[in-house]
Amino acid sequence: MFKTIEWTDAGVRMIDQTRLPAEEVYVICQTYQEVAKAIREMVIRGAPAIGVAAAMGIALGVRDARAEDVAGLSAEFERIAKTISQTRPTAINLFWAVRRMRRAFDECMGDNTKAAQSNASNPELASMAAELDLIARIRARLIEEAQRVLAEDVAANQAMGVHGAALLADDSTVLTHCNAGALATGGYGTALGVIRAAVGQGKRIQVFADETRPFLQGARLTAWELAKDHIPVTLITDNMAGHFMQRGKIQAVIVGADRIAANGDVANKIGTYTVAVLAHESAIPFYVAAPLSTIDLAIATGAEIPIEERSAEEVKRWGGVPTAPENVEARHPAFDVTPHRYVTALITERGVARAPYTESLPALFRFQGSSVR
Ligand code: MRU
Repeated sequence: MFKTIEWTDAGVRMIDQTRLPAEEVYVICQTYQEVAKAIREMVIRGAPAIGVAAAMGIALGVRDARAEDVAGLSAEFERIAKTISQTRPTAINLFWAVRRMRRAFDECMGDNTKAAQSNASNPELASMAAELDLIARIRARLIEEAQRVLAEDVAANQAMGVHGAALLADDSTVLTHCNAGALATGGYGTALGVIRAAVGQGKRIQVFADETRPFLQGARLTAWELAKDHIPVTLITDNMAGHFMQRGKIQAVIVGADRIAANGDVANKIGTYTVAVLAHESAIPFYVAAPLSTIDLAIATGAEIPIEERSAEEVKRWGGVPTAPENVEARHPAFDVTPHRYVTALITERGVARAPYTESLPALFRFQGSSVR
């Protein structure tokens, strides 16, 4: 099995998703700037995977920062966090990971204040040795935290699989859009994790994968990883989904998410909204699988979610080959928002949430004294 992303001493290693399925090659980002570029250029993509990359990018930047004291390291942390935060705006997991790394940094500082106080009889020693020791501890802690973000993401996906598999019937066909699989996460996947879990329970599940114009995550990535796992997959172009639903060929839709508002509105890959409306019209359940790190309770509705507008060139050409006249105007919103009324249920690592989401989503965070946010 491939590894989407991992920490190595040489840097952050990731499978290059721009080159799949033709080539399975890995890149090692040796600086945080290279990690930021990899996120921006979609070498790594998918909300939870972007979160892991952000955490590892910060750990890498702090490890290699030239700062001579903690104040300098703290300033460098903010520069790194800013660069990482400016890569892609929609997936909340990126900002969640930055916040989490900042908290880890601050916790080390808090521990140090206590250590300095205990050394108060020798202030010089406290201010010099403790400073160097603290820098080393912050670096080690951030590397550990980034690896924890990865491990927790995989565990969350597996838990989502357990909760979500019960929703998929034996001998059914499930449609998915974009790629919400192992490639989009630390591993296993959110939407595809639910499918993997159902298959693991012995259910016969067929997957219909939307091609997902213009970046072709469905064709290039979902079809690739499901075929690798021997899960039956049929590729369709985006405009075929309604046809198959109308003919009774699809029993459920399951997708991932980039950000979920407090009312249950879901931002996901462009075209998801269309699929949700079609599913509603065809009385097919529309499920969204996402970890709690994708839920943004700070925003009331999906109207507040920033939608990334990518280069129109990605619409006008593929692989360098023009697919439209050079001088035509094109637009490329990379995500859309599905209103919560179309969402049958949200599958998370803490269980399945249903409407009213303004009640069921906060309850997930309260559950077991959450340390998620
Ligand atoms: O532009 P991308 O490829 O990063 O968009 C990815 C998606 O929209 C996924 O469906 C979403 O991030 C969920 S991934 C588990």
